[in-house]
Amino acid sequence: MTNIAAQLQKGLSKEQVTFLQDAGAIASRTGTPLYLVGGSVRDLLLGRPVLDLDLVAEGDVAALVAKLAAELKGEVASRSQFETFKLKTPVGTIDMATARTETYAQPGALPTVKSGSVADDLARRDFTINALAAHLSPAKFGSLVDGHGGEKDLAGKLIRVLHEHSFQDDATRILRAVRYEQRLGFTIEKKTEEWLRRDLRHLDAISPDRLRHELDRCFSEPLPESCLARAEQMGVLKAILRGLVWSDSLRQAVAGAREKKLELTPLVFLGLLAWLMTQKLADALAKRLNLSSRAHKVVRDTMLIKAAGPWLNAPDLSASGTYKLLKDREPEAVEAALLGNDTPVACERLQRFLLEWRKVSPQLSGDKLLAMGVPQGPLVGQLLEELRTLQLDNPGVTVAQEEAHVRKRLRDLASQNAPTKAP
Ligand code: CTP
Repeated sequence: MTNIAAQLQKGLSKEQVTFLQDAGAIASRTGTPLYLVGGSVRDLLLGRPVLDLDLVAEGDVAALVAKLAAELKGEVASRSQFETFKLKTPVGTIDMATARTETYAQPGALPTVKSGSVADDLARRDFTINALAAHLSPAKFGSLVDGHGGEKDLAGKLIRVLHEHSFQDDATRILRAVRYEQRLGFTIEKKTEEWLRRDLRHLDAISPDRLRHELDRCFSEPLPESCLARAEQMGVLKAILRGLVWSDSLRQAVAGAREKKLELTPLVFLGLLAWLMTQKLADALAKRLNLSSRAHKVVRDTMLIKAAGPWLNAPDLSASGTYKLLKDREPEAVEAALLGNDTPVACERLQRFLLEWRKVSPQLSGDKLLAMGVPQGPLVGQLLEELRTLQLDNPGVTVAQEEAHVRKRLRDLASQNAPTKAP
């Protein structure tokens, strides 16, 4: 039987290992066996960094959490309806849950939960590589619980569901399969892929918030473009929404942006999906994913920039003209448009706007304008905008030149307002 004590020593800090040993000893004393489970065990076996420690206990986890908090300088940070806890400890926040079984009344519904053994808890999980646990009791510290061949699938680099109806129980697992496959460089096992394709329609039962959450997690992966390409290839995108697509040229554009060190945040990927959409489809996507108002604006702005293509390509568009065209658009939408656009002139302007022009501001402040005699009111804002235009179209403009501009404008306004002499 495999024991991962060596991986625990190697992959975690000394303090974390001591915490797990102490927690395991306390849990054993109280007759509440404790295990490290899921992604943390998977990542330890893979030699990847472990981001979260997830623990599961058989029995009264609430009492155990209280005891651990008291004895190991912890603090219970939160408790949920399914008896899951966040325990703040000196070695970080640790998730703790009761081992449980789950049954699904109907596909996509939230599961009915009952407490059970660690084996039950692993049997309700998504993939064999996540259905792993390690004992924390002193007698068996590090000993692996692997009832579904997870260790073998880690070695074979396979994403495999535990049973034929897994995607029907919870279709978010479709996106999770793609995510793990691309993140780990694994392959979705043949039968699992067959069931995944067969059960795509069950994505319809997933609520907008859960679906958006899973997509967001794809967008936050190291290579979201690979997740999107794979999702497209297996028909996942069009199962989420008819007409939702991804393209190979966008994938290449993203790879290029990564080399140029452009920041590729999750909202940029949402914008990229919008780049390939019609207005009607974009509205449908916003509804299907219950997008926040800012995310919805990224989608709308991307489409507005796309529609502004002829202006962005016009030969005589100045830096300040580009600024005016893009200043109210979300930066993620500008970046998506930059990656989606294939005309060099527009790309150059979008890139310069993103990296330089949107950060340009006048050297004179509003206070300075008031001190120069500009009356309080809308003229201050108007002059600041004029100074920004001056800066954008004449890089290197000096403070003295800005002051000269303000003085000239004040003179012009004074002469306009001067009473006209009687003939
Ligand atoms: N899980 C599941 N089905 C889901 C979501 C989660 O079976 N639809 C299980 C998986 O076994 C997973 C665990 O719950 O290991 C915790 O979920 P999550 O935090 O999403 O997984 P991690 O493995 O921690 O994922 P990541 O590495 O992306 O953080």
